[in-house]
Amino acid sequence: MGQYVIAGNWKMNKTPAEAAALIEEIKPLVKDASCKVVVGTPFIDLQAALDATAGTNIGVAAQNCYWEKSGAFTGEISADMLAKMGVQYVILGHSERRTFFGDNDLTVQKRVRGALDAGLTVILCVGEYLEQREQGITGEICAMQTKIALGGVSAEEMSRVIIAYEPVWAIGTGKTATAEQANEVCHLIRETLAGLYGADVAAATTIQYGGSMNAGNAAELLAQPDVDGGLIGGASLKANDFATIVAAAK
Ligand code: 13P
Repeated sequence: MGQYVIAGNWKMNKTPAEAAALIEEIKPLVKDASCKVVVGTPFIDLQAALDATAGTNIGVAAQNCYWEKSGAFTGEISADMLAKMGVQYVILGHSERRTFFGDNDLTVQKRVRGALDAGLTVILCVGEYLEQREQGITGEICAMQTKIALGGVSAEEMSRVIIAYEPVWAIGTGKTATAEQANEVCHLIRETLAGLYGADVAAATTIQYGGSMNAGNAAELLAQPDVDGGLIGGASLKANDFATIVAAAK
């Protein structure tokens, strides 16, 4: 389906010096990757990551951005600022932002708009809480989050959107969705995209799975027809584990 993309989400981990060191470890291990490789670092590590990845096949992602270009928004970082410093990707709508920092579907939509306007590629996270899965509304939740976040995004712009299906109950818990569950929801997200943009855009869009993906389970998850990559938390902080996941994405 879409091009395979393996992205690390380092979350709130690593100083700039540690980030540079981890990238130096990762570089030789992924240099022949047949997928796109991205590292998503804290804001303060972005320059170190850009320097360390210059001239390599590794892209750099921020983990959030604000939608206004500049102004009186204490503590925020704009999509424009990221793009101008050379960052190519931004992770948006991660469940940790939604759960702990007040992000919601409408603010995610604004962030997506700002990021696309700035020229960034968006990794848009969607996913259900455990209670929602138990209620049988996983499909509705993921379709709704996808539709609202993409409100106003054109078919052409979809070439700069990656969707990451991350069931909240599988994040950092060691509880992975089964390959079948992951594929089922990734497929449903693809059908949602087909409804919005047509079958061609839906087929060309990269849809990742995220949530306790690791060196041991990645191959089975990535072999699913609708899973085009992974958004990796914990395992992306270990060069060998991350490289094993990258190697599994063929
Ligand atoms: P873990 O891989 O640590 O479960 O985290 C997944 C995630 O949230 C990636 O964005």
